Amino acid sequence: MKKILVTGGAGFLGSHLCSRLLDEGNEVICLDNYFTGSKRNVLPLLDNPYFELVRHDVTMPYFIEVDEIYNLACPASPIHYQVNPIKTIKTSVMGAINMCGLAKRIKAKILQASTSEVYGDPQIHPQTEDYWGHVNPIGPRSCYDEGKRCAESLMMNYNLQNDVRIKIIRIFNTYGPHMNPLDGRVVSNFVVQALTGKDITVYGDGLQTRSFQYVDDLIEAMIRMMNTPDDFMGPVNVGNPNQFSMLELANEVLDITGSSSKIVHLPAPQDDPEQRQPDISLAKEKLNGWEPKVQLREGLEKTVAYFDSMLQRGELKL
Ligand SMILES: NC(=O)c1ccc[n+]([C@@H]2O[C@H](COP(=O)([O-])OP(=O)(O)OC[C@H]3O[C@@H](n4cnc5c(N)ncnc54)[C@H](O)[C@@H]3O)[C@@H](O)[C@H]2O)c1
Repeated sequence: MKKILVTGGAGFLGSHLCSRLLDEGNEVICLDNYFTGSKRNVLPLLDNPYFELVRHDVTMPYFIEVDEIYNLACPASPIHYQVNPIKTIKTSVMGAINMCGLAKRIKAKILQASTSEVYGDPQIHPQTEDYWGHVNPIGPRSCYDEGKRCAESLMMNYNLQNDVRIKIIRIFNTYGPHMNPLDGRVVSNFVVQALTGKDITVYGDGLQTRSFQYVDDLIEAMIRMMNTPDDFMGPVNVGNPNQFSMLELANEVLDITGSSSKIVHLPAPQDDPEQRQPDISLAKEKLNGWEPKVQLREGLEKTVAYFDSMLQRGELKL
């Protein structure tokens, strides 16, 4: 049994990770300040004696003895990370410093949840890990993009300078149950709009494409990455390379929900990348042949079922 710290563990991805780590027989400490996460996401885990929930902000040091740290704490959607951009930078940068400092002191292994946003508005498609990105350092997304880039740099330098065992994964657009319905992310937006009979809002012409990874595929890759040999640190892209346009996604959601919502178009936000697509060759090679297994239709059906049950229980407050 390993003792594992998950920062941001009450969030969308963190809650799935905590649950999977417990299923594998580990002891899990979930640390969160509940900015975008919620106790509701980890409610079913609270009865497990090997699960501990701690309210804490990663911008402050935290001391504990663990074997592994998954550092996920950070708001992930523009709506939330732009509420307080300075705090977003602090969360990424000071969070990484505090968690790497802890890993150094207790000789734990640490995995950083980085993002495809480090590639900015990429000029090559698909993106491979050796692409340095095309980021606007003063744009409205920079608090997130540059914070995450700095966190990657911190990880690498804690390894170089202090031999901390580090792992970096660059997560591409992921969806599934436990997404925050107020996040403004495209999948949760479309699903909630369809379920509540509201117009489906597509930004721009809707022809811009995105890749959509189901959460279970990501969690599998995260755990495999943590278990790779110490000399493999990444960064490694983890995403689903299949591309869908916003209009295709909207129509798929309409089909699953049977909703009569109409599709309407709104202006595209500033710095919204036209396209982002992972090259996952490295993940396949280094993570024991890992590749995404869940098709969009299947993942969307599970996501619709989740939001529908929230709606039935009156928990979907918009
Ligand atoms: N979901 C995606 O598609 C995606 C894509 C790329 C990267 N990521 C990264 O994965 C991680 C998890 O993302 P998510 O989608 O689960 O988002 P999320 O917002 O659901 O989860 C983030 C969690 O971190 C917590 N948090 C935020 N600031 C904190 C702080 N200062 N101290 C302690 N806790 C704090 C939030 O309350 C929340 O529970 C993030 O680091 C995000 O950047 C996610």
